[in-house]
Amino acid sequence: MSQRRLFVTTALPYANGHFHIGHIMEYIQADIWVRFQRMQGHDVNFVCADDAHGAPIMIAADKAGKTPQQFVADIAAGRKPYLDGFHIGFDNWHSTDGPENHVLAQDVYRALKANGLIETRTIEQFFDPEKNMFLPDRFIKGECPNCHAKDQYGDNCEVCSKVYSPTDLINPYSALSGAKPVLRQSDHFFFKLSDPRCLAFLDQWTQSGAVQPEVLNKISEWIEPGEDGKPRMGDWDISRDAPYFGIEIPDAPGKYFYVWLDAPVGYLASLKNLFDKTGRDFDAFMADPTTEQYHFIGKDIITFHTLFWPAMLKFSGRKVPNAVFVHGFLTINNGEKMSKSRGTGLDPLKYLQLGMNPEWLRYYLAAKLSSRNEDIDFNPEDFMLRVNSDLVGKYINIASRAAGFIAKRFDGRLGEVSADGDALLDHLQSAAPHVAELYAEREYGKALREIMLLADRVNAYVDQNKPWELAKQQGMDGRLHDVCTTCIEAFRLLTLYLKPVLPALAAQVEDFLQAAPLQFAHTTRLLGKGHAIKAYQHLMQRVDVKQLDALFEPPPEPAKPATVPGGEPIADTISIDDFAKIDLRIAQIVKCEAVEGSSKLLRLTLDVGEGRTRNVFSGIASAYAPEDLVGKLSVVVANLAPRKMKFGVSEGMVLAASHADENAEPGIHVLHPWPGATPGMRVR
Ligand code: MSP
Ligand code: ZN
Repeated sequence: MSQRRLFVTTALPYANGHFHIGHIMEYIQADIWVRFQRMQGHDVNFVCADDAHGAPIMIAADKAGKTPQQFVADIAAGRKPYLDGFHIGFDNWHSTDGPENHVLAQDVYRALKANGLIETRTIEQFFDPEKNMFLPDRFIKGECPNCHAKDQYGDNCEVCSKVYSPTDLINPYSALSGAKPVLRQSDHFFFKLSDPRCLAFLDQWTQSGAVQPEVLNKISEWIEPGEDGKPRMGDWDISRDAPYFGIEIPDAPGKYFYVWLDAPVGYLASLKNLFDKTGRDFDAFMADPTTEQYHFIGKDIITFHTLFWPAMLKFSGRKVPNAVFVHGFLTINNGEKMSKSRGTGLDPLKYLQLGMNPEWLRYYLAAKLSSRNEDIDFNPEDFMLRVNSDLVGKYINIASRAAGFIAKRFDGRLGEVSADGDALLDHLQSAAPHVAELYAEREYGKALREIMLLADRVNAYVDQNKPWELAKQQGMDGRLHDVCTTCIEAFRLLTLYLKPVLPALAAQVEDFLQAAPLQFAHTTRLLGKGHAIKAYQHLMQRVDVKQLDALFEPPPEPAKPATVPGGEPIADTISIDDFAKIDLRIAQIVKCEAVEGSSKLLRLTLDVGEGRTRNVFSGIASAYAPEDLVGKLSVVVANLAPRKMKFGVSEGMVLAASHADENAEPGIHVLHPWPGATPGMRVR
């Protein structure tokens, strides 16, 4: 078979959290396929990247007190232990905020525009007047127009499940500032997916075998004419207004690509970044019609990958994917669907930290995976059973039973295989094309069942020949050598078949057997008479139920914040940067007077060393007479946004101590600095 050239990706995870077990499942599925293709001798380029852009990440970064760049860099820094830990062999990990992606996304856009597929329209959208930004639907909340539940999101109600648009909400408010959003007009750019050229292309591409049948069923309604004769496909809004963490749209100041426009371009950017590092020609590789492009994704992002992305590629004059492979979701213990951001139950890093073998998980997930878009479940008992009885019991045991005799009795060398052994090995070798086909089709569950049936045959041969009894019988050395040699040759073949799933174990076995790196093309070969192997070292432990218990033990409750007399708990920890945002200054109370119509407030005139005075209202009238305060020093929050009150504008806040209930004993006490402080000094 001639060498194929493959470009393979998994979906790019959002850079707003660490990997959960759903991500790891996707990477394991793709990694097995990639390793299989490499074992066939093909040139495979397997890349991924962080999906860095978009409003949610920008807002999360802001909350964490970081720039979006720093925020995503911190997430990226935590990726390696997971990928290395589970033997996921990406050739490159990049970011959609990398320079390659800026250039490529803008190139794609310019080409779409030159093809007449970009259109500008004015739309009305909610705008947060305090944050000065347009609000994504998820950041608008209000009362559900249907069931009147309070605090529902702008796109759908979590109580009654009604889907609506943010403008339908009753009393909408911004989830960012609490402000009442206002409707504002803005020019947005649209990718004209409803253009007949796009529809004709998508009709052809989706039916070319590029998607699974069950996926085609889901998406064809968007392309095919409906009852009114028109396809349901609408044009796609690909722009967002500043402030936005993303890539600027050429010739459109203040406009950015919507994150889902530049995210898949990140596949190309990561490959280009890899090729630039290794001195390969990215443009030539992508222009070569024989280069094959494949994407592994989950079922929640089908439309982006099977409609929008192929159309973007096609009409920017690029190669389109040969196939998009869609998998279902992983659930834990038939639990509810995992939350996309948190995952539940099985923390992949904890799994590794407990010393659990990553290849157990690879084996178990592979045993459950098929080529179909179906959910799969992680069940702890089933996990233990499959690993212990199949992987260790059926496969590993073959080596552990035979290798000791080869070492002790035959100087570590293999012997002659007689007719019955030959027949067994023939049977194992003849399975290679079928096993290979199952891997190629992503039917890993079927492949592993096939391999375990082969292992059953080998175990039956061992049970018939009982090497441990042969070893005790006089004159049976020849037969013992023959049987153990057959077992070792069989073990090598089984290892070859399992290598895409168990790469680290296969490497250990290659060393133990002193065998060349196992390739599918090598199934016809055997190690042969006289071949020396190393002494057997234990290859794999069984799963211990205690490990599983520890894995699913809920994490310890976060330590309860300390409480102090008065009953108010210490607030959540903040960083020094958070604290630095608060500008505290020494202020002199130059004037103080009662406020007519308020029994709580005093009006203070403060000198904060600015060459002017400030007006501040303070709720301390119950504790101080105005004349007690005049001339005194105190501490004021000097950078608090001015607040309009019934009696005038307050330009700061004087600090005072009290219990949560200010009226409880011993009341309110204004802060007063030690002698020597002067107005305008910063308190830090
Ligand atoms: N950033 C987008 C993808 C952009 S691709 C150009 C995204 N990120 S994600 O982090 O939410 O999801 C990444 C991948 O993980 C997706 O393929 C998604 O389907 C997959 N999974 C998320 N939860 C999953 C499970 N519970 N089980 C299996 N895969 C899951 O979407
Ligand atoms: Zn509702």
